[in-house]
Amino acid sequence: MSAVRVAMLGCGTVGAEVVRLLREQADELAARVGAPVELVGVAVRRPHKHPELGELLTTDSSTLVTRDDVDVVVEVIGGIEPARSLLLEALKAGKSVVTANKALLAEDAATLAEAADASGADLYYEAAVAGAIPLLRPLRESLVGDRISRVAGIVNGTTNFILSAMTATGAGYADALEEATRLGYAEADPSADVDGYDAASKAAILASLAFHTRVTSADVYCEGIRNVTAADIAAAREMGCVIKLLAICERIPGADTESVSARVYPAMIPATHPLAAVDGAFNAVFVEAEAAGQLMFYGQGAGGAPTASAVLGDLVAVARNRVLGGRGSRESAYASLPILPIGAV
Ligand code: NDP
Ligand code: HSE
Repeated sequence: MSAVRVAMLGCGTVGAEVVRLLREQADELAARVGAPVELVGVAVRRPHKHPELGELLTTDSSTLVTRDDVDVVVEVIGGIEPARSLLLEALKAGKSVVTANKALLAEDAATLAEAADASGADLYYEAAVAGAIPLLRPLRESLVGDRISRVAGIVNGTTNFILSAMTATGAGYADALEEATRLGYAEADPSADVDGYDAASKAAILASLAFHTRVTSADVYCEGIRNVTAADIAAAREMGCVIKLLAICERIPGADTESVSARVYPAMIPATHPLAAVDGAFNAVFVEAEAAGQLMFYGQGAGGAPTASAVLGDLVAVARNRVLGGRGSRESAYASLPILPIGAV
């Protein structure tokens, strides 16, 4: 069987771990896919920082994503542009796409999904929400026959790491943020984490998938943790509570039509609540569905290796589809379905 040929865009915290796992697990991945998975190019900004990649390196992302010898494009650059243009070029050229880019998906998943539908290419993005936790595939596939009413929990590892450190050891906000950045949890611009925008992007993706409608980051009420002080944490403790940054997405019933509410803000929760025990860069998300009842998803929500696990899972899925000549699930959230009104917070 001929190899599935992979181009990577970006080789930072996440990308470097993807490359490592691709190389270390080459034989096992080939057995699971039914063909070798071969890395044929890696685009970065500063090639001198990646001597180990040798001739695979390029700074010409645009040429890389449309090369004839590329089947799958893995995007771990981040940000809106040039990621959006590159992925659209790749999808139009019939390449399967795997991305971890929640900022882009929350702004414009519809355009990417339309391009994927038009060319019959796969678009997978499990790593975009909650790191290693399999959460989007269950929403897109396992629970697609059910009726989800609520998705809520902790979806940002950096802020959970900071709040946990401030609560457990009395660490200062700035020191905890510095440590989260050193550990590879924070975004390239960590204000996306501490001001809640990263969690809001994830809430938009979760609400879109859970409620089969288009929700963008602009639809999500967003408040970060920048103003949470040691005094706030002490006051919460006095009341038997801890402070967590929550993302809450709900289907709101109405007399004539339903709407959707999606919001992110720091909240006091009782110390006995399961979310109170979620520490460090871990994430936890509750999903409530009519038939399934309540489900809880828990695990490492940030960091190079945990996120690379989710990227590799997607990579195996799209590579198998190419080998078998199939395609993954159609994206009902972003197809031309009625759009539910976005309700009040
Ligand atoms: P990094 O900042 O560590 O790495 C970004 C990489 O992209 C670098 O290799 C950089 O090149 C390269 N790059 C940036 N701009 C360009 C460009 N214009 N052309 C080519 N290459 C470019 O980011 P992360 O690995 O942390 O994150 C990547 C993506 O994964 C983001 O979308 C992020 O939101 C998402 N993500 C991250 C998680 C995490 O825990 N870190 C978890 C889940 C998702 P160079 O090395 O030369 O600077
Ligand atoms: N910066 C993000 C976080 C990375 O801390 O959760 C994982 O999406």
